[in-house]
Amino acid sequence: MTTHDIAVIPGDGIGLEVTPAALQVAQAAGRRHGFGFGFTEYDWSCERYRREGAMMPPDGLERLSGHDAIFLGAVGAPGVPDHVSLWGLLIPIRRAFRQYVNLRPVRLFEGLDSPVRSRIDLVVVRENTEGEYSEIGGRMSRGFPEEMAVQESVFTRAGVTRVLDYAFGLAARRGGHLTSATKSNGIVHTMPFWDELVRERAAEHPEVRWDQEHIDALCAKLVLDPGRFDVIVGSNLFGDILSDLAAAVAGSIGIAPSGNLNPEREFPSMFEPVHGSAPDIAGRGVANPIGAIWSAALMVEHLGHPQAAEEIVAAIAAVLAKGDVRTRDLGGTAGTEEFTQAVLSHL
Ligand code: NAD
Ligand code: IPM
Ligand code: MN
Repeated sequence: MTTHDIAVIPGDGIGLEVTPAALQVAQAAGRRHGFGFGFTEYDWSCERYRREGAMMPPDGLERLSGHDAIFLGAVGAPGVPDHVSLWGLLIPIRRAFRQYVNLRPVRLFEGLDSPVRSRIDLVVVRENTEGEYSEIGGRMSRGFPEEMAVQESVFTRAGVTRVLDYAFGLAARRGGHLTSATKSNGIVHTMPFWDELVRERAAEHPEVRWDQEHIDALCAKLVLDPGRFDVIVGSNLFGDILSDLAAAVAGSIGIAPSGNLNPEREFPSMFEPVHGSAPDIAGRGVANPIGAIWSAALMVEHLGHPQAAEEIVAAIAAVLAKGDVRTRDLGGTAGTEEFTQAVLSHL
């Protein structure tokens, strides 16, 4: 039997609640399809930061590098500044392992309330290692009346090209089309360069229909008519915002999954729900586990089991369509555990 060796970082807040749900479902799918998992849990978190002064040990990335994949819950806790928890764990993993594609599918499941009536089945492809999330030039000048903060965005030809090629390839495989999120009408100096590279890559993928939308108009259209979108490719910050927006339009940010992919497979990829540690509901057992469970499905697919992955998503869809078991963010009363059990029994 194939056994996949997974590094598990539950993290903080509801990360600790939705991670076990996702792993249980992944294991159940594996049992039906003849593969298994070895999970190695790492307690890297804000809790560890408080105890030991660092989110992860100095050799943390090295330890992760030997695993087949990484599963992460969420990090962030009140009292620890977010730039400490994020630059101390999440962002270094994405960068060190060249997870330059952040794949974020969004679907409107049957039976869910949404402000829109159209079919939604789209994927946000978010550039994940550069752009606005840059360490270069970040500084604050304080202590005088005109104090200020400055940060430089970094868009490299290689970095933009590789994520665009992934997005065009995905659009081709889906038989759909691609929309590029831009802001080249204004004074964002990086975006005309992004657009130029989009045109270059489009010429290499003549089979893919494509267009571009300014990010502000794109947000409006995603709310008014999300059915017209298929693959949306955006920079690190635009992709971040679009993925929460699209997930909320499809019902809740609690259902959104993500894969931080290293497409060349030189390094492990990382799977995590799009949402954060949700301190406002943490510790109560009410978090929606769908984002985490669907992320586990993306992991299972990445590990070479597309059929098992499809069954996980179908089980989520079946429970939602039946409608009697739902978490509070979707208008129900079920807790994390009850919803997870319902998915398990559908598997
Ligand atoms: P958040 O996603 O944690 O929460 C936003 C809102 O959505 C909250 O009201 C929360 O209760 C709700 N929500 C989120 N996930 C839910 C779920 N599964 N079920 C039901 N409701 C859910 O975003 P935030 O409030 O901006 O951030 C809180 C903390 O999480 C911060 O420290 C932030 O830095 C961190 N964060 C971490 C990650 C990550 O680790 N990948 C991602 C986003 C935010
Ligand atoms: C996400 C999160 C992170 C991001 C934060 C917590 C740094 O919002 O994964 O979407 O912006 O990348
Ligand atoms: Mn986000």
